[in-house]
Formats: sequence, C-alpha cells, structure tokens
Amino acid sequence: MSTGRAVPDKILTNHDLEKMVDTTDEWIVTRTGMKIRHIAEEGVVTSDLAAAACRQALERANVTPEAVDVIIVATITPDMPFPSTACYVQDKIGAKNATAFDISAACSGFIFGLVISNALIKSGSYKNILVVGAETLSRMVDYSDRNTCVLFGDGAGAVLLQPSDGKRGLMSHFWESDGSLSHLLFTPGGGSKHPATHETVDQKLHFIQMAGREVFKYAIKAMSSAANIAIEKAGISVEEVDLLISHQANNRIIQATAQMAKVPPEKVYSNIENYGNTSAASIPIALDEAFETGRLKAGQRCLMVAFGGGFTWGSAVVQF
Ligand code: UT7
Repeated sequence: MSTGRAVPDKILTNHDLEKMVDTTDEWIVTRTGMKIRHIAEEGVVTSDLAAAACRQALERANVTPEAVDVIIVATITPDMPFPSTACYVQDKIGAKNATAFDISAACSGFIFGLVISNALIKSGSYKNILVVGAETLSRMVDYSDRNTCVLFGDGAGAVLLQPSDGKRGLMSHFWESDGSLSHLLFTPGGGSKHPATHETVDQKLHFIQMAGREVFKYAIKAMSSAANIAIEKAGISVEEVDLLISHQANNRIIQATAQMAKVPPEKVYSNIENYGNTSAASIPIALDEAFETGRLKAGQRCLMVAFGGGFTWGSAVVQF
C-alpha cells in the first residue's frame, strides 16, 4: 500500500473566522481542537485535489497510471452531480484502463471504499486500486453560520491497494448505517427532493446543516463501539494496535473514542488543528502524514474509525 495527499495552500485561521462570524479562537480551539483549515482556490475542484493525491501514491509505489484497474472516490462534494468525480480523476491522471466510480458515505466514505476495494482485490481480478477521500467542503459551507463554518476544510488523501501476502492487509472491518438519523447531518438542496431553484438557494438549502450536539453524542458511541468490534474481529488485543486514526471531526470525539476503546493517548493520531474536518479525506490525509513522519511504519497495525452523515460509521484494522 502506498499513500498520497493534496491540500490547498490557502489557509483560513480561527482569527480569520472571528472577523466573519460571532466566534472566538478560544471557543473553536476548546470545543473542537481546530486552529486552521485549508481552502481550495477558486477554480480548483475536488477532482484536482484527488488527482494530485493519486499521482503521489502512484509515484511512491512506482506504478504507472495505465496499470490502475479501479478508482474509487469517496466524496460529498463531487465536481458535479454527475459524472462521477472518479471519472474526472481517471482522465486527469491518465488511468485509461481503469473503471472509475464514486461512493457516497460522507465522513465514513474512505473506510467504505477500503472495504469495497479489499473485496475486489480478494476476488483476484484486480491488482491496483486507488481509493481516494477528497473534499472541497468550503463550497458547501455557509460562511455566515457559526455552527458549521468553523468546522470544515478542503483536501484529499489517496491509497493504492495491491494484493499482498497473507500477513499484510485488512485484518478486519465493520461498517454500519442508520438512515433514520439522516436529518441530523445533511445537505437538503440540489437533489431530487429539492432541485436547485432560486428559492432553494435563498433558503440556503445547498449548505451543510448539522445538529452538532446530537451528532457529537452518536459519533462517540458509534465510533468507540466500531473500534472495539474491529479489534475483536481482527483477533488481537487493543495493546497490539500501534496507532489509532479516527475521522478528524472534533478533538473531543477523537479523545473520547480512544478512551472508550482503551487506546492510550500516545497511540492516538490527531492533526485536526491543521485541517479541520475534511470529511472523507481526513483519514487518508492522516494516514499519509503518519507514514511520512514515521508515526506508522511497515509491520505495524493501524485501527481506523469513522462516523458521518447518513448516519454511516465504520472501522478497520490494517496490518502494514
Ligand atoms: O464529520 C461528521 C460528523 N460531525 C461531527 O462529528 C461534529 C459533531 N459535533 C461537534 O463537534 C460539536 O457538537 C460542535 C463543535 C459542532 C459544537 O460543540 P458543542 O460543544 O456541542 O456546542 P453546542 O452545539 O452545544 O453549542 C454551545 C454554544 C451554543 O450557544 P448557547 O445556545 O449555549 O448560547 C452555540 O450557539 O456554543 C454556540 N456556538 C458557538 N459559539 C462560538 C456554536 N458554534 C459556535 C462558534 N463560536 N463557532
């Protein structure tokens, strides 16, 4: 497995946000752990970030774009409703032999992509699969709503999955959904329920809406339970986990999940202060950083766990 990431240079700080809405750096840091987030420049779209992350993952593995069999992009901020962002990525990186499609599982999208691609690899028919989490959430955020605008950032992370010997790879996974709670975190406009009209735009239906406190409660419960299940299914003890990478939605959620899953603080990865919540991109960005900085090395085990709109949640134990 090789990894890559792409994050825009432009930065939005808590102090910038203080000038835009009624908030403070102190509130944001205390409640979320976030300090800055990266924002795509005008004209840069989700597939640009995804393609850059994919190119890096391919270069590091010394694999040509022509050798890629499948591209899966997990995103809630596609370039357009259709075609898929994955098709744009295919074209941009020159992966002319690949099948490309998107999946929609919000912040759990990368874990869901990992599970799907693992099954494809195990089928024996595919050798190189790119799984990408990519978002330009700044395009879907209402920068006059302090409840949401301080939280989200843009970026992309990619992994290249290949068949491996029996020891390395996905040891276990768990994934689940509860559509009855969809109204707690969603973007109501722009689909078949509220097609774009002047009215839907006036009513701001094209922006992310979230019942933060409710989501917070469910996220901790679901993520800690998912973490425990993946560890159990992998047949290992929590002491045998080398690093926990949680979806970076809120530092309090990350710490509470770790505590409930009994993962000690020194094994918990957090980069939320530098990116905010990048939805499907947060785990692969963290994974790439963890390899780059030596927090994660070949031979080690990583537990990943995510939660997002749908609701969707999931976890995986990967042996590198
Ligand atoms: O990625 C997918 C999943 N998403 C998540 O997991 C996010 C889950 N939720 C959260 O992370 C937290 O609920 C938030 C960070 C969104 C909010 O933190 P909280 O501690 O749950 O705050 P709250 O919603 O209970 O609000 C507390 C107060 C409210 O004021 P009142 O009603 O007590 O007067 C809010 O209006 O904080 C106010 N508030 C703010 N104040 C300053 C909300 N946003 C802000 C803000 N700056 N940006």
